[in-house]
Amino acid sequence: MLETGPQDASPETLVPPDPHVVVLFGATGDLSKRKLLPGLFHLDRAGHLSDCRVVGTSLESIDTTAFRRMARQACEEFGRGQVSPEEWHAFERRLSYVPGSAGPTGLAEAVSVAEDEIGEPSRLLHYLSVPPKAATGVVRMLGDAGLVERARIVMEKPFGVDLASARELNAEVHKVFAEEQIFRIDHFLGKEAALNILALRFANGLFEPIWSRNFIDHIQIDVPETLSIEGRGGFYDETGAFRDMVVTHLFQVLAFVAMEPPVELAPTAITVEKNKVFRSMKGIRPEDVVLGQYAGYRDEPGVAADSETETFIALKCRIDNWRWSGVPFYLRTGKQMAEGGRIISIAFREPPKSMFPQGSGVGRKGPDHLTFDLDESSRVSLSYYGKRPGPGMFLDKLSMQFSLNELGIAGDTLEAYERLIRDAMGGDHTLFTNAEGIEELWNTSAPLLEDPPEVLTYERGSWGPEEIHELIRPNRWRLPFQRRWRD
Ligand code: BG6
Repeated sequence: MLETGPQDASPETLVPPDPHVVVLFGATGDLSKRKLLPGLFHLDRAGHLSDCRVVGTSLESIDTTAFRRMARQACEEFGRGQVSPEEWHAFERRLSYVPGSAGPTGLAEAVSVAEDEIGEPSRLLHYLSVPPKAATGVVRMLGDAGLVERARIVMEKPFGVDLASARELNAEVHKVFAEEQIFRIDHFLGKEAALNILALRFANGLFEPIWSRNFIDHIQIDVPETLSIEGRGGFYDETGAFRDMVVTHLFQVLAFVAMEPPVELAPTAITVEKNKVFRSMKGIRPEDVVLGQYAGYRDEPGVAADSETETFIALKCRIDNWRWSGVPFYLRTGKQMAEGGRIISIAFREPPKSMFPQGSGVGRKGPDHLTFDLDESSRVSLSYYGKRPGPGMFLDKLSMQFSLNELGIAGDTLEAYERLIRDAMGGDHTLFTNAEGIEELWNTSAPLLEDPPEVLTYERGSWGPEEIHELIRPNRWRLPFQRRWRD
């Protein structure tokens, strides 16, 4: 259950989770360096954890001293703010390392040492930051090492590559762990701004009455990235933009936007509603999809010279239920694009009839929009037509905008991984996906996976292949914005 506490509670009143030994698989990898180790450091420093030990493991044959050195560098480079010698000293003693070659027995011994150091009953959190192919091997190993009781396991996407492989993976993991122990992480759902969608929709009387096909014309979820594949050629070339971003992040965000009000702020209630959205989604038709690959992708290290992997995707999908029937959802994401952004844009229907004459500017800048920015600033904007001051009746597109930065509390934000690690330690499934949800999504994706359209080349620094405009017609992509966010 998402924590709230008694009346007038504040985040400071939240109780830290039980003491934990975190077993970090893939501890020397990119995600661990960029997010997990800095995240654990921040949670510990900010007092969000009780006693905690981190046992790192990976294929690299290093020792605890080298691991601590690597972790310090990672926290300094990717963490927030300075790392003082005192703070580092306090955290470093929590870190140990055991190479994968030590096998189940070596791992179990390292965990036992960490548990003894804690000295009181503790739980285990296994974080699998490993390539998809390695996940089942790690799960079996945890079974062999006897590290399943009092344990939870966090798994990274992609959860399979299609319905059959997702079912197989779920079945394998279920041989060792019960579903309640499994946390399939999607870091987009840990972003403040994603949670703010729930707050805005369900904590106010203002928006929900107009949140339907009667008032909404179409919705865009647009996540262009300027990044390339950043040295992840091997992983990316087998995965592609659809599996890397859409089946996971974009569809999860779509579920928050589209779901019915849950009966309570609790994991089962929210999961039930999200899964209903996934079940109502019509199969993705290949003709509703544009796939692209940026020029030069095939020269990236780790990428096949004749690769047909998409680094860009734009698609139209439909949710076939009473609330959303007839409302297209347009999704887009890609690498090496003109600008980075993570927006959700809700376009409202235009008035049925206008008393404002042509030439007054009415409708000239498109429909009214409610726009969410999923960046740290959690910006929200509501755009509408208003009168331009002065004689006559001329209309301009105006907007009401909000940014977390205005409140001076943006520093309290937990980075998405931090929030989700803490939730998993507390056993809170609200922001994680279950086996059923994943399988529904692969089912929806089947028509596209069986018969994907041709992958078109696009220029680096562009907005994708030209065909994206045809896909969204008669509407237009919101990005690039005609008018910038206010500072
Ligand atoms: C990851 C993808 O899950 O999300 C990356 O594997 C992508 O390819 C990243 O760049 C985007 O996340 P964020 O939080 O930086 O928008």
